[in-house]
Amino acid sequence: MSNRLTGRVALVTGAARGIGAALAQRLAQEGAAVAAVDLSAADETVEAIEASGGKAASYLTDITEKASVDALAETITSELGSVDILVNNAGIYPVVSFEDLTAADWRKVFAVNVDAMFYTAHAFLPAMKTNGWGRVVNVASNSVALQVPGQTHYIASKLAVVGLTRGIATEYGQFGITANAIAPSAVHTPGTSDMPEEGFQALAQAQSIKRSSVPQDLAGTLAFLASEDASFITGQTLYVDGGLVRAL
Ligand SMILES: NC(=O)c1ccc[n+]([C@@H]2O[C@H](COP(=O)([O-])OP(=O)(O)OC[C@H]3O[C@@H](n4cnc5c(N)ncnc54)[C@H](O)[C@@H]3O)[C@@H](O)[C@H]2O)c1
Repeated sequence: MSNRLTGRVALVTGAARGIGAALAQRLAQEGAAVAAVDLSAADETVEAIEASGGKAASYLTDITEKASVDALAETITSELGSVDILVNNAGIYPVVSFEDLTAADWRKVFAVNVDAMFYTAHAFLPAMKTNGWGRVVNVASNSVALQVPGQTHYIASKLAVVGLTRGIATEYGQFGITANAIAPSAVHTPGTSDMPEEGFQALAQAQSIKRSSVPQDLAGTLAFLASEDASFITGQTLYVDGGLVRAL
């Protein structure tokens, strides 16, 4: 592991478990101090990071509350320093057919998957702009390019994530800030624990790389995008899915 993020402060939402926990651990291994933000205490993530010599702290926040996100920005900045790397990972993916979808279902998915990313970006981009350096990495999904029933609200929200990412890239590139999205396939996490194994296997067979995805598959891509090596990549959506989706 390199130390290419030494001296950086990173924030990962949804860091208590699943993909977010793996992303937080990898950023810490690369040298960043990590703010692990979640609805539940991210104690296991923080303990794992500290056990391997890294620096992290857990912050309990509902990121769908704008005032809470603004307060979080003040707290993290005073405790860890200004955030250089913002990783918007927290998301929900309930399965509901379009016919049964309610306005409340729709709003909830957009609140977590889209509104929260807008709140965090608004709260943390000003300091990145002042510092003349920053990285925003948003977690999308390869389902935006697939036919997945029961996910109309989810797919619409993740396409909004792609749009948000592109808008930030457009307006902040001049300040040394990049914004990119990473799009996983189905990944084994606590959130997908009720997805049948046959579903994972069917996807694996459709991919070029014929195995199911684990959270660590996303970690290397994130570390690269967060690093200096990726300073000329912005506004992109990278499919990290074993070659299932081929984007031009
Ligand atoms: N697992 C997959 O198959 C898969 C595939 C494609 C994309 N994704 C995306 O990856 C991301 C992470 O997925 P996962 O499978 O690790 O999920 P997960 O359910 O295992 O973990 C998500 C974490 O986000 C936290 N969270 C949810 N709402 C929150 C809120 N309002 N405020 C703060 N924290 C909140 C949860 O407490 C949880 O710890 C999501 O954006 C998801 O859409 C996942």
